[in-house]
Amino acid sequence: MNTAEFTKKYYIDRRGSHSRKWNGQQLKFNRTDLLPLWVADMDFMPPQCIQEAICNYVKANPLGYTMTNPDYLKAVISWYKRRHRCIIDGSWLTSAPNVITGIMWCIAAFTKTNDAIAVLSPVYGAFDSSASDAKRQIIAVPMTHNEDNRYAVDYAAFEAAIVKHDVKLFIHCNPHNPVGHVWTLEEMDRLFSICQQHKVLIISDEIHQDLITGLKPFTSALTVSNGAYTDRLIAMSSLSKSFNMASLHHAEVIIPNEELRNHYNAFKALVYHTDSDVIAEAAITAAYTHPEAEAWLTDLLAVVKENYDYMYNKLLANLPELRISPMDGTYLAWIDFSAYLKPEEIHDFFENKCGIAPSFGEWFGGESYATFVRLNLATSLENIKIATDAILQNI
Ligand SMILES: Cc1ncc(COP(=O)(O)O)c(C=O)c1O
Repeated sequence: MNTAEFTKKYYIDRRGSHSRKWNGQQLKFNRTDLLPLWVADMDFMPPQCIQEAICNYVKANPLGYTMTNPDYLKAVISWYKRRHRCIIDGSWLTSAPNVITGIMWCIAAFTKTNDAIAVLSPVYGAFDSSASDAKRQIIAVPMTHNEDNRYAVDYAAFEAAIVKHDVKLFIHCNPHNPVGHVWTLEEMDRLFSICQQHKVLIISDEIHQDLITGLKPFTSALTVSNGAYTDRLIAMSSLSKSFNMASLHHAEVIIPNEELRNHYNAFKALVYHTDSDVIAEAAITAAYTHPEAEAWLTDLLAVVKENYDYMYNKLLANLPELRISPMDGTYLAWIDFSAYLKPEEIHDFFENKCGIAPSFGEWFGGESYATFVRLNLATSLENIKIATDAILQNI
């Protein structure tokens, strides 16, 4: 299916559906008439095979108490093997209601009040709030923003920060939201060997694993150095980004080390007492095994890439000093407007002049990113054209 056909078939006008992105603008922007390119979900319906799996389950079964369906476990294992060359043992799998809750539980289970938690900034803001809400210190190690607008790790600064603050946990975003970087084996090997040397536990948030739009493949942290770091590693994922099902509350938490896993599960038992989520399991099993879902994903990525290319080419042709990061992964464009706008002009420019609700740069690490915006490209090309034109007409 080409991009126009995909959009015709799957694009959905979500206004009036209680969508946080469309109807929840009021929360952050105090109005509801902006073109929303902020919350990271998509304006596309998921593959039909997933919808059918959910409907079929509900029609054929009461929603009584259940046990984990082995087909769901097999589906997750097969997805990681088939798509990501990553071999997972079924016993490593546990869960959380979503990735951020999994991260919050790990923070509570594996660190103490005032412990230091490292991230590479700019980064998804919920890492920061999960740590600070739990009264942990967040240590943001800025990445370098290079000539080609790519981001890279300053390994010396990373190690120095770990030593200085006695960091206990590193939350890695793989691929990286908001900068769109897809981490290589070599980069993760360097990061993780520093963590290993200083006994830092690693969480690899792999929720964007399937959203690869560049040439570099996604590499799970579980496979780095042939699994050399799995004893201090917790990987998390879910189908929510890949198949636009964020309100289906289920995330995979993958913990190879038995002691860590038992500790996580013991903490989870204290705060959460429920059976498996049958609807999520039915959906995940369909998503990870049905050929239609993989074809949908391929077509979706073509739409996202077309949107990025359109916006990138059109903006740079007119505003050559914009700094747009290469989007190798995610569906999020990360753009620095500092050549054209002052930090104090950004909100007014996007909201009042352009009529766009972006994610503002400061949400990803504070004032240093105040001239940046993150724009969500998982929508129709038509919406991306409207946004691009609005930027060009008003700057
Ligand atoms: C890197 C990253 N992790 C986690 C989440 C949220 O995931 P969940 O809804 O499963 O908590 C997002 C959503 O944007 C994200 O970008």
